[in-house]
Amino acid sequence: CGIVGYIGKREAYPIVIDGLKRLEYRGYDSAGIAIYDGTDLKLSKTKGKVADLEQKINSEISTKGNIAIGHTRWATHGVPNDVNSHPHYSNSGDLVIIHNGIIENYESIKIELIKRGYTFQSDTDTEVLINLIEEVKKKQNVKLGKAVQLALTEVVGAFAIAVFDKNKPNEIVVAKLGSPLAIGIGEDEFFIASDASPFIEYTKNAIYLEDEEMAIVRLNKKIKIRKIKDDSEVTPSMQELKFNLEQIEKGGYEHFMLKEIHEQPHAIKDTYRGRLRAKEGIIKMAGIDDNLEKFTNASRIIIVACGTSWHAGLVAEYIFENLARIPVEVEYASEFRYRNPVITNNDVVIAISQSGETADTLAAIKLAKEKGAFVFGVCNVVGSSIARETHAGAYTHAGPEIGVASTKAFTTQITVLTLIALKLGKIKGALSNSDYHYHLQELELIPEKVEKALKSDAHIKMVADIYKDAKNCLYLGRGYNFPVALEGALKLKEISYIHAEGYPAAEMKHGPIALIDDQMPVIVIAVNKGHYEKVVSNIEEIKSRSGKIIGIVTEGDTSVKKLADHVIEVPETLESLTPLLTTIPLQLLSYHIAVMLEKNVDQPRNLAKSVTVE
Ligand code: G6P
Repeated sequence: CGIVGYIGKREAYPIVIDGLKRLEYRGYDSAGIAIYDGTDLKLSKTKGKVADLEQKINSEISTKGNIAIGHTRWATHGVPNDVNSHPHYSNSGDLVIIHNGIIENYESIKIELIKRGYTFQSDTDTEVLINLIEEVKKKQNVKLGKAVQLALTEVVGAFAIAVFDKNKPNEIVVAKLGSPLAIGIGEDEFFIASDASPFIEYTKNAIYLEDEEMAIVRLNKKIKIRKIKDDSEVTPSMQELKFNLEQIEKGGYEHFMLKEIHEQPHAIKDTYRGRLRAKEGIIKMAGIDDNLEKFTNASRIIIVACGTSWHAGLVAEYIFENLARIPVEVEYASEFRYRNPVITNNDVVIAISQSGETADTLAAIKLAKEKGAFVFGVCNVVGSSIARETHAGAYTHAGPEIGVASTKAFTTQITVLTLIALKLGKIKGALSNSDYHYHLQELELIPEKVEKALKSDAHIKMVADIYKDAKNCLYLGRGYNFPVALEGALKLKEISYIHAEGYPAAEMKHGPIALIDDQMPVIVIAVNKGHYEKVVSNIEEIKSRSGKIIGIVTEGDTSVKKLADHVIEVPETLESLTPLLTTIPLQLLSYHIAVMLEKNVDQPRNLAKSVTVE
């Protein structure tokens, strides 16, 4: 979910509504807003997107007022409908709340509150929380801030909340545990949001609350930050925001996803800028340099991640083992955290996350730290929870990724992990000097090769048009490109809702081959490196069962061309770097199919960009 709030001298509605649109990547199954117009509190909410709220709001309430809080939801408790949408009132109608996260013990609190006469309109855990705050406030006769603090000591779960009391219309109380919360500080005005994008055009000054902190945001007053646990005061630390509005707008592209696909040459360059000096043979990465022994002494590396980031981790497994000869295990964060994993203080755990907020990944990090491992983060969002929770890390510097289907985050994650593997490979003597230098030079050429791969767009669109009505698709690859096959299949599933599976090409004969008939498109990554001949044999096997073959091949390929129905070329590079190129046509193929099927490419159904619940 995404939350936004404003308190100050401007009209609050446009700020909050535009802010919610920028946060829709966090969930978009319902939206709502509460506005204080100077005398009363008005509320409007609806199932659907922020645009639906905009349509509905004028027929319901006036949008005038200088204080507002708004919410865009990704449902956890209770189906997405008008009633379950946020904000939620307390029973008296005085308090109103927006909440991102989950209150795990809400049922027992609800039973207690019902005993005390409270009634509930919705099925949400959030409505329970606001009534708990109301109960504490009344019973203990305390101010709103104190009531929020006391109530939160009773809840178990994760939250970023903003609470407003219409009898005290000069303040908003916010609190955070597990879900992110940023406060933008303007002149006589404050902004509240799940990330800084809703207020980037108004102020560059922000405070990011830490876990278990709350703040009282009051007009004409300095922000007060307190610890939820014991109400002690914390000195706020202001950060200067470095990104700008342009980076979070579509810049002429029809969709964010297409923009982000095309940004990859730049994004990859930004990832290695200042780190890679190919001519001198230097890779500088502060997070590694400062902790070199941890890495060189590590008995193994465990990578934890979810979704696309997990696929980047799988690519990294091949890269680390081949180039640095360090054993690697790659784990779904959600499995790792719950299976009592064997971890020692000789292990290095690398957590990969675009958003830096994924709840399962965050929990896996905490567990690994408890067990004594050194934890290194690879995140895109600067200052995110994972970036702060890890011992050290390296940012991908891909710039904001808004499209729910991850694209540039994936290729930049691979770039960072390649830099680390090359650096360690060199230090550990696993790579010869000439191999090391060759890799560095080739890595520097990747952005222009990605640019070239993007030029196949029109051809890929034509292929998309032929296969857009397929019901199933199979993606095959071997070695470094097996994870790319998984990622290609995920991209298609996510945005076009066509069922797709990724498989190691050789494994096809142990099951998926049964699915192949003349209706089945099989996308095979068959670059002229590694196990090329073996992949060609796999293609023969598909052909002899009348499958439709789309080959992702190296420029100038002839063997696959003879067998495949279509080929899409990518420039030649070193085997370990091929995923950075073979991913590109798969992203474009999914994109075009989804657009042709008239799906919502940037906001596919049921998904969220950042999953802050487990
Ligand atoms: C969600 C997104 C995916 C993403 C995954 C992990 O499921 O829809 O695109 O790969 O979360 O997110 P992270 O921010 O940790 O990389």
